[in-house]
Amino acid sequence: MKKSYNIIDHHYDVIVIGAGGSGLRATLGVAEAGLKAACITKVFPTRSHTVAAQGGIGAALGNMGEDNWRWHMFDTVKGSDWLGDQDAIEYLCSNAPEAVVELEDYGMPFSRTDDGKIYQRPFGGHLTKNGEGSPAMRACAAADRTGHALLHTLYQQSLKNNVEFFIEYFVLDLLMDTNDVCCGVVAWCLEDGSIHRFLSHQTILATGGYGRAYFSSTSAHICTGDGSAMVLRQDLPLSDMEFIQFHPTGVYGAGMLITEGARGEGGYLTNSKGERFMERYAPNAKDLASRDVVSRAITIEVNEKRGCGNKADHALLHLEHIEKNILQKRLPGIAETAKIFAGVDVTKEPIPVIPTVHYNMGGIPTNYRTEVLCPTKENPENVCEGLMAVGEGACVSVHGANRLGTNSLIDLVVFGKAASMTAKEKVKPNSSKIDLKKNITEEIMDRFDNIRHNPGRFTTGELRLSMQQIMQQNCSVFRTQELLFKGINKLNEVESSMNDLEVRDKSLIFNTDLTEALELNNLMAQSKVTLHSALNRKESRGAHAREDFPERDDEKWLTHSLVWLSKDGNIRFGDRPVHMNTLTNHVQTIPPKKRVY
Ligand code: FUM
Repeated sequence: MKKSYNIIDHHYDVIVIGAGGSGLRATLGVAEAGLKAACITKVFPTRSHTVAAQGGIGAALGNMGEDNWRWHMFDTVKGSDWLGDQDAIEYLCSNAPEAVVELEDYGMPFSRTDDGKIYQRPFGGHLTKNGEGSPAMRACAAADRTGHALLHTLYQQSLKNNVEFFIEYFVLDLLMDTNDVCCGVVAWCLEDGSIHRFLSHQTILATGGYGRAYFSSTSAHICTGDGSAMVLRQDLPLSDMEFIQFHPTGVYGAGMLITEGARGEGGYLTNSKGERFMERYAPNAKDLASRDVVSRAITIEVNEKRGCGNKADHALLHLEHIEKNILQKRLPGIAETAKIFAGVDVTKEPIPVIPTVHYNMGGIPTNYRTEVLCPTKENPENVCEGLMAVGEGACVSVHGANRLGTNSLIDLVVFGKAASMTAKEKVKPNSSKIDLKKNITEEIMDRFDNIRHNPGRFTTGELRLSMQQIMQQNCSVFRTQELLFKGINKLNEVESSMNDLEVRDKSLIFNTDLTEALELNNLMAQSKVTLHSALNRKESRGAHAREDFPERDDEKWLTHSLVWLSKDGNIRFGDRPVHMNTLTNHVQTIPPKKRVY
């Protein structure tokens, strides 16, 4: 039975949705700027998925060898397969060293060199001298628990700055005013079932990726891309959704992440013949080629019957030749992970690994100031006022078609801070009263009620599994038109079954059945636009490998894709030019060329 809700109103200058690395960095910056800010999060802040990041945060500090932010920029542009916006990439790489030193000043417990500097290790796709030199020591690490150290540091700083947290609040939807300016959100308090309206002059979405659309993923169960789905529901576009990153070394069968830092410390991959096959695919960078290259190489080895194990379906990652004290000091977390999830003692045997979904390059389109874009034909840079986005849920776009390892953590803090600076500039004290769109709160609560009270035959778990299997099989490392078509048809069936989904628990207090149903709705929308976007892009670029269109096609496809999902389920495409210009004259544009490692 539907009910009317007693809604509690709150007023803030700025609200931040999500308390991972980017959400906390944005909230902290906003609080430091003296704005009235709140951070609303569906999990306790230190349980956000940033906690799982392992190998490092990228910045050209040059602590352990020559480095330069321009080389970092070159590698990032090349890593993105030229789909990244070069102004945003310049902003990221030039601000990265300062952002890391700031974290150090905030108290982040980095690993250290003998002379006390921040320890740095090599990572895939990071080289010196514009790709011509040796691997760059650029990944600033706290052993193999860098995300954990970063998240706890930012949370402690937020507490120090008296940030107001609303913890275990599930945001249902965005509030828009009569001019389509975002002016807050409606959220459900999971603890006591109350409904809240957070009214604000700027809303910053830091809601993460949607890795859980896939069956095998390094992402936590909370990674359901809730903010991106809210954006779609406002008839705003998402960008570059076809680009899904597979991390080459997920634990076979379990999917847990084994950091690329393991290869940075000297680990290497072999096939069933004991060959170090990466030498064939990336003669220079070998095991430290970028992720899309290594993931494709493992998949090809398996497809060509050189996979390991009884089913010949994975590769082996060797660390047993690395000194025990280095493993203990630099990679303690993955030694434990390998023991628990693969039953492997890394000092004695290799770890069975398989490419596993890890990151979404696509998401909510923004400029480098983190303002959400709502491109029109006349103005591809048109901004949706009142709304910003940061972190994995955003598509700035600095990662383009393929993200380099360590560039995620640095993206979180550089653009988290940028969001706070933009908010400070935009929010005027005593801003005028918010004029909400008519009936918008009622519509949000109707949708909530429809999901909560729908009678049906299926459980969330059943439909989620079907969706995850389709995404895993039909939108994987390699794609074809036939596979994607089939995937779309199968997903359409699951989408129809969503009308027959019943939430058995009708209560409002810690109702995980209802939360998961809401999350599944969010995942379904993103899975749908991902499959359609992958079918739409008829070329291979970065992580999007079309077997039927094996070449990169700069003439037709050097462009960001935009996708809209209308209320009746229809898909619409658009595009936005890639920014080939730099932000300043401190560095030159990097023109496209063939991408080899
Ligand atoms: O391999 C890793 O440690 C993951 C890092 C990243 O995704 O940036």
